[in-house]
Amino acid sequence: MTDMTRRQAIRLGAVGALGVAIGGVGLSQTGLPWGESATAGARLADPEALRSSGGILAVDLVAAHHRTSIAGRDARVLAYGESLPGRTWRVRPGDRIDVRLRNELDTPTNLHTHGLAVSPRGNGDNPFLSIDPGESIDYTFQLPEDHPTGVAWYHPHRHGTVADQLFGGLYGALIVEDDDVPASSERVLIISDITLTASGDVAPASQQDVMMGREGRLLLVNGQHRPLISARAGDIERWRVINACTSRYITFAVPGQELHLLGMDMGRASAPREISDVLLPPGGRADLLVALSPGTAEVQTLGYDRGGMGMMGGGLSGSAVLATLSVTGGNAAPPIGLADERDAPDLRGATIAGRREIAFTMSMGMRGRMMDMGFDGRAFDIDRIDQRVDAGAVEEWIISNPTPMDHPFHLHVWPMQVIEADGQALDEPTWRDVVNVPAQGRVRVLVDFSRNPGRSVYHCHILDHEDAGMMASVEVG
Ligand code: C2O
Ligand code: CU
Repeated sequence: MTDMTRRQAIRLGAVGALGVAIGGVGLSQTGLPWGESATAGARLADPEALRSSGGILAVDLVAAHHRTSIAGRDARVLAYGESLPGRTWRVRPGDRIDVRLRNELDTPTNLHTHGLAVSPRGNGDNPFLSIDPGESIDYTFQLPEDHPTGVAWYHPHRHGTVADQLFGGLYGALIVEDDDVPASSERVLIISDITLTASGDVAPASQQDVMMGREGRLLLVNGQHRPLISARAGDIERWRVINACTSRYITFAVPGQELHLLGMDMGRASAPREISDVLLPPGGRADLLVALSPGTAEVQTLGYDRGGMGMMGGGLSGSAVLATLSVTGGNAAPPIGLADERDAPDLRGATIAGRREIAFTMSMGMRGRMMDMGFDGRAFDIDRIDQRVDAGAVEEWIISNPTPMDHPFHLHVWPMQVIEADGQALDEPTWRDVVNVPAQGRVRVLVDFSRNPGRSVYHCHILDHEDAGMMASVEVG
């Protein structure tokens, strides 16, 4: 098969699946095949950065409706401020972030600093706050001096409106900077997806979208469809990659270029290692070094089978091109000068104060009724405390998934050390704030609850599932 016919075949497969995935939503045809657009190739723009100074980052954040152009079409989306994505917040360990959030949407919202290990209390990283349309709120996030460095992000977290608001365009990068990684330059790559109706509005989710977790027809990087990334051969670039898709899994790859993984989510691995691709579940991030050699490459998601519900599976999180990378100049890819072995914290020597088991729940409702989603047989209840943990305890949590599809498990403000996944014990200290729990599988994690007492949540980061009840609360104190 020639390249062209193979690509057409893949495209046809994708369109076939699309017919199933959005059947009945009433979208009219754009006249363009899946993921294609007439205007692909605009240069990738880095979101504008806001940097802390004197230990403080003050942010005026407005969540509002926004008109923009996506894939050559007029689009009415949501955005923080006047930009899609929102501006990148750059801070250092020990900094304080003060945010005034004004809600100019039609639905309630709030704010989550995903990846920060900060207080969940009061006007900190508190997912129980709700800001009505027209209202404002002042948040304060205090990072401790020894806060891990790495890639975080911010997005709304008001239960019931999270998926719609994220899918609509509300997300931004939050980088906790270090200064020991040599790189020629740095880029933020926020991957998201969206579906636009014929009139340019964000497509609503059907009941089936909610069950499966909606995936947008257009994949975006920093709000742009298939942008062009230009780079210089011989440079080492640092890429901060964020999967901000509502439900889509991304297997990030740049075939033909050399990728080194510095870390996932927050924190650094003990040593960078060369990789061919990296799986980013929804909400997951990768901190990468790219050693550039001349040529044109496609930045891709290789696709990932995240399972499904009987007839309703398949066709999700398929492969796609995210961007084109054009590297010019005659230099060869330089060596990565970072062989350091770091001592990542390791909880495996700690005394385990308690063990608990948590299971995802997804049961088929009666004839056409919505499925029940939650943990341990019950849906989220804002007034219920599901787990009470003693302050100071280190606990082992076994998260199991008896359902037929994968779910990404996210715990707020208390990082998880994954010690077992896919039935295998992990030797290297592996820190995550989102961990994928495969269908019929389980993971084991250790969590240190000696910091950030208060009440917060864990949930599925397929945000349609979270809004449908796949969330629970934990109180530490
Ligand atoms: Cu990125 Cu509780 O979410
Ligand atoms: Cu889920």
